[in-house]
Formats: sequence, C-alpha cells, structure tokens
Amino acid sequence: MSVKIEEYIKSLPSDIISGNEVQLPADSLRKIFEFLNLDESDIFYHLGCGNGEGIKIALQEFHVKNAIGIDNDKEKIQRAKQLTEENQLKDAKFLCDDVITAKIDDATVILFWFTDTEIVEKMKKRFQNLKNGCRIVTIWGPLPECLPDQVDFPYIINQVPFKYADLKEQLLAIFGIKCIDFVSAWEYAERYTNAIAPHNTENDRFLTILQSLVIWINAKNLGIACSEDIPVPIKNYMGILKKFFGIEVEHLLDDTNLKF
Ligand SMILES: C[S@@+](CC[C@H](N)C(=O)[O-])C[C@H]1O[C@@H](n2cnc3c(N)ncnc32)[C@H](O)[C@@H]1O
Repeated sequence: MSVKIEEYIKSLPSDIISGNEVQLPADSLRKIFEFLNLDESDIFYHLGCGNGEGIKIALQEFHVKNAIGIDNDKEKIQRAKQLTEENQLKDAKFLCDDVITAKIDDATVILFWFTDTEIVEKMKKRFQNLKNGCRIVTIWGPLPECLPDQVDFPYIINQVPFKYADLKEQLLAIFGIKCIDFVSAWEYAERYTNAIAPHNTENDRFLTILQSLVIWINAKNLGIACSEDIPVPIKNYMGILKKFFGIEVEHLLDDTNLKF
C-alpha cells in the first residue's frame, strides 16, 4: 500500500507542516548572522521570532543596536521576553502582532522565514517600501520574482530596492547553474536539511531524498531540468520511496510520457 506524497504530508502534525512550531537551531541563526555581517549599526527584526533565541544571539553575540522580535503567539512572546530578561538584554523588544501589520519601518535587516504564499506576497509589498539597502534574509528561496543580492544556500539576501528576475534568472543566481540534474538537486536538498534540521542521520537522509526528488520534479515541470528523461538515481529513489516508505511522487510530474 502506498499513498501520494500530499496525503502523507497531510498525515503529519499540522503545527509542524505549517511551520508554526518550527524553530531555527541556534547554529543556523549564527550562520545567518555571520553571512549578513550583522553589527552594531543594525536594527534587526526577526519576523516569527518564536522563543526569542534569534533576538538573544543578535544582541549578545553580534551586538546589534536594536533587536525586535515579532510573533503572533502570546506564549512564545512571553517566553522570548523571559529569555532576554534573564540574559539582561535591555535592547530587546518584542511585539505580539501579525507580521502583516506590525511596524517594521526602521529595519536595516529582517529575518523572514515564511512559506505561506499569501503572507509572502503581502510582505514583499511591505518590504519594497523599506529604506534602500535594507536586507531581508529568506531561507530556501528568494522573495517572489526578486533577484537575490547574495546567496549562501539555503540562506538568501534580498536587498531593497528589489531587482526583478524570472525563474531562470533566480535559479542561476541561487544555484550558479543553468539547469538542475540529480547531483545538484541532491546537494542543495542536503544543504537545506543540514541548515534547518536538528541532526539525526536517518531522518536527514529521508528528508534529503524527499527534497531532492521534489527539487528535480519541479525543475522538470518548469523546463529547467538538464535532461529530457528521468535520471537513473531519481528513478531509483522514487522506487525506494514507494517500496520502503509507501510514498508516491511520480504523479507530480506534468509530463505523463515520463511516468512509469
Ligand atoms: C518560521 S515562522 C513560519 C511559519 C509560517 N506559518 C509559514 O508561512 O511558514 C514560525 C513562527 O512564526 C509565527 N507566526 C506564524 N504566522 C505569523 C503571523 N502571521 N504573524 C506573526 N507571527 C507569525 C509562529 O508563531 C512561529 O513562531
């Protein structure tokens, strides 16, 4: 018995899938801040700040001028306040608010890890009105139709004013390649897994298999896969996923001739 990947994902806890209960590990936050060269001249906003770890690290280790955490979950904001009070970080500020309406106009750097397309589109409009030079870090992909300013995959810096890019230009800027083959799909899936997941070899491998299949299938559907045929390793992993995990992904391919 196997199920389509959409059904498998539906069967997982909704708080995890929505991203609401997902927190970036402290080391990922440090890597992001190093990539940004965050320093004492910055007014840093963490949108969806969760337990406040990002605000704490930005102040304690990167000495930003101000750090403002925004989250619409009251309990998380309370925990975040407690964390920064315990660490005597007086320049920490927290707003229990929706990111769509919260005040962010003095930001010089924003950490924004959201995948909900409605939120992303609305926020892109807001970000466009921020001061020139303001940097918005996203994870995995750039803001829609924006050319990234700097990339250390999966971390991406989008800088105001945004430059337009179509999907192929975005791909080139992010991956430094013109088309996606199995090796690049795997490499980037692995980098993403390493960046966001608390490490557990077995789970990491499973997640990387899923991610690389999804990357290659999306690339194929968008006309940016390197080959016309399904590469052998992709076929093999599709088979493994179906046989050993009961998860089907072939139906995600637009080109029915390719299905097997
Ligand atoms: C990493 S963010 C991403 C979650 C988001 N639902 C997405 O689109 O992927 C998770 C954090 O954002 C918070 N959050 C989710 N939606 C929010 C909103 N509209 N405004 C402020 N905080 C939000 C959650 O409480 C959580 O701490």
